[in-house]
Amino acid sequence: MKTKEIKISISQFENLGELSPEDQELILKARASASLAYAPYSNYLVGAALRLDDKTIVTGNNQENASFPLGTCAERSAIFWANANYPDLAIDTIVVTAIDQDGRAAKNVSPCGSCRQVMLECEHRYSKSMRIILDSSNGIEILENAKSLLPLSFNGDSLKSIG
Ligand code: THU
Repeated sequence: MKTKEIKISISQFENLGELSPEDQELILKARASASLAYAPYSNYLVGAALRLDDKTIVTGNNQENASFPLGTCAERSAIFWANANYPDLAIDTIVVTAIDQDGRAAKNVSPCGSCRQVMLECEHRYSKSMRIILDSSNGIEILENAKSLLPLSFNGDSLKSIG
């Protein structure tokens, strides 16, 4: 029997000012997008902002529905819009943030499993890592890629691995 250990590295920051101006701008755009979210059922308003390789910024937020499973997360709103309109451009960085209906920053912000899988698809599609910035009242955390958030992940290569 062998044991495999998988480690992930997370950079942690206490203040926005510790980040590059580009990352700061993206975080502010994500926060602004969170305030435009439609989340009357959860009151957890999520904002995402991503920067494409040509520096274009795309934002998105969660869009809920009275039929709960139909709602869409902020990350996927932004990623799918970016992929639909800029199919040739990889996503360099995505920020995720969340507030409540009174505008108070959430303590815990982390992409759900479905959004992690969608981020992973982008990394495969463009052969490029996507930086992920998580912005919460506990500080700012940066991961260098989506793959680290999905150990033992399933991807397009898995489909070719039969036989
Ligand atoms: N949500 C996101 O937008 N992104 C995530 O990664 C986590 C969850 C949304 C979905 C739903 O509208 C609300 O947060 C509560 O789950």
